[in-house]
Amino acid sequence: MIEVHLGDITRLHVDVIVNAANQRLLGGGGVDGAIHRAAGPELLEACRQIGGCPVGDVRTTPGFRLPVKRIYHTVGPVWRGGNLGEPELLAACYRQCLAMARRDNVHSIAFPAISCGIYDYPRDQAVEIAVEEVQQHLDREGSPRHVVFCCFDDDMAELYRLQLDAVVRR
Ligand code: APR
Repeated sequence: MIEVHLGDITRLHVDVIVNAANQRLLGGGGVDGAIHRAAGPELLEACRQIGGCPVGDVRTTPGFRLPVKRIYHTVGPVWRGGNLGEPELLAACYRQCLAMARRDNVHSIAFPAISCGIYDYPRDQAVEIAVEEVQQHLDREGSPRHVVFCCFDDDMAELYRLQLDAVVRR
């Protein structure tokens, strides 16, 4: 099942939440900052041990003080006009997180709108990629049973709802 949720991803009780991180994996603003604040200082230490993550890839840590088993730190592309591989890299973020979720036998996972904030990705294009990748994965694999698109504002939530309706109608 795919759900659109309006709220703070650090409040969700799911197996895994996805963090929209940067390549250094040492925290930042936006959802990265919120997750580090809520998970506590052990998260930063765990991220230091990992030592970074390439764009389009994912690294995993425990949830620490968050009510989740794992946090998947993925690094979305910075929008630079769309001709430098941004769509493929954003799709790879979702694909890599879903592949890791399969390996971890995850039942529920929540995604923020990766790259749609500080990284300035056009929201409608990012939402289309997010929904497409998740839907294709679920059609193929049938799990995770519960995927949440966690939005921080209503405009974002509306974009996901419209995109999901379009996919269902196809
Ligand atoms: N819960 C859910 N969504 C959130 C939260 C939150 N607590 N805080 C912000 N968001 C939303 C934003 O509104 C946006 O729609 O997450 C989406 C992604 O925005 P950013 O967090 O800015 O992430 P991104 O655009 O991928 O930029 C990543 O920002 O925080 C830094 O260290 C991070 O350098 C990296 C960059």
